[in-house]
Amino acid sequence: MPMDIFKITGPVRLDGEIIVGGSKNAALPIMAATLLAGGKTTLHSVPNLSDIGVMGKLLEDMGCKVETNGGTTTVDATTISKPVGDYEIVRKMRASICILGPLLARCGKVEVSMPGGCAIGYRPVDIHLRGLQELGAKIELKNGYISATANGGLKGANIFLGGAFGSSVLATANVLCAATLAKGKTIIEYAACEPEITDLAHCLVAMGAKITGIGSPQLVIHGVKELKPVEHTVIPDRIEAGTFMAAAAITNGNVKIKNCRLDHLMAAVDKFRSMNVAVEETTDGCVVSSNGNLQPTDITTLPYPGFPTDLQAQFMAVLCLAKGNSIITEKIFPDRFMHVAEMSRMAANLRKEGPHVIVSGVDKLISAPVMASDLRASAALVVAALAAHGETIINRVYHIDRGYEKIEEKLNALGAKIERESV
Ligand code: UD1
Repeated sequence: MPMDIFKITGPVRLDGEIIVGGSKNAALPIMAATLLAGGKTTLHSVPNLSDIGVMGKLLEDMGCKVETNGGTTTVDATTISKPVGDYEIVRKMRASICILGPLLARCGKVEVSMPGGCAIGYRPVDIHLRGLQELGAKIELKNGYISATANGGLKGANIFLGGAFGSSVLATANVLCAATLAKGKTIIEYAACEPEITDLAHCLVAMGAKITGIGSPQLVIHGVKELKPVEHTVIPDRIEAGTFMAAAAITNGNVKIKNCRLDHLMAAVDKFRSMNVAVEETTDGCVVSSNGNLQPTDITTLPYPGFPTDLQAQFMAVLCLAKGNSIITEKIFPDRFMHVAEMSRMAANLRKEGPHVIVSGVDKLISAPVMASDLRASAALVVAALAAHGETIINRVYHIDRGYEKIEEKLNALGAKIERESV
């Protein structure tokens, strides 16, 4: 199978306008939530990404009709012939787990292959299962599959959904979806507050769900008998936006980022400003500019509205060129540092100590062949390569394609020199 690589020549200065696409992490649970309603749901601003394709395949495999036209995806979930998330599809994308809650609520039973390991560390699903059990589901693990049944239907409950690392985004999505059709009232305490959950909740409300507390850690859901299909526009991708902001910052650029919700990026904006990167709000986004005098800062990833773990690697790339030492602490996925070794190959000065990385700023990064390991780590390598001297070769670009639509075309339009090659 041919595998794409990126050849990136740097350093460049990015200048111009770039448009952010719809949020992958909002679109995935919302696509899964279409399973809750018989009929055809239409979703706009769905990014054209391989992960979205995997979710489409999953839905088709269980009997839905999925059509994609530009950024619009329709899911006809009139008939669900097989409430099963097959291993062959689920193994390609962990986020497949978010069909669990919707299928259980709609069909009273579901089997989903247990997601396997992944490059950012051990990722258990105990919180998902605990939440569904509290709604009355009987859960068993067999042959690598999670089997959940709710004979007699789900019943509302008071559920504490916190785990060792705080709230869980997709566990909240699963339990929220399941609770919309449960009998009676459900209170989810320690719900994830990420904008992607808020977007899902808004979509569910449009479908007829009764939810209050949206955007807060306490969600109150009054179960309804059925939900109806709707039309919904997915929010802009805050992580794609944050990645472009990092690209502007590291290249001393001046980039207008459109279709960007700055209110979803306050922690990142705060850090950029402390790094001496200017972020000015515009009507539909922001302008990010840097004069090259990058200052060090300390970053700790936390659940929203804290600093997002999905931007940790990209900020590390920028801090590699700051004038001084920074400390990055990962509190969501303590092993999410695969990019450290790769960036070190590009002459970054990094020292990992447990869940911390000490970043000592260097004068310049130098190109090297590097390996993309997971989605955001790979995006960070692209960011670093834009500023690195020489030609950086990034292998395994398919990781980047999971979450960034035509990243090389978008960045090249700003002055980047990125070539995609199949090898
Ligand atoms: C989602 C995002 C991912 C992001 C992450 C954290 C999608 C498709 N993915 O992943 O990009 O990095 O949120 O913002 O939206 N945990 C448990 N038990 C569980 C579930 C989670 O211990 O049952 C732990 C995880 O290992 C992690 C923390 O909770 O330490 C947060 O993970 P979680 O919010 O669940 O991540 P995802 O929803 O899988």
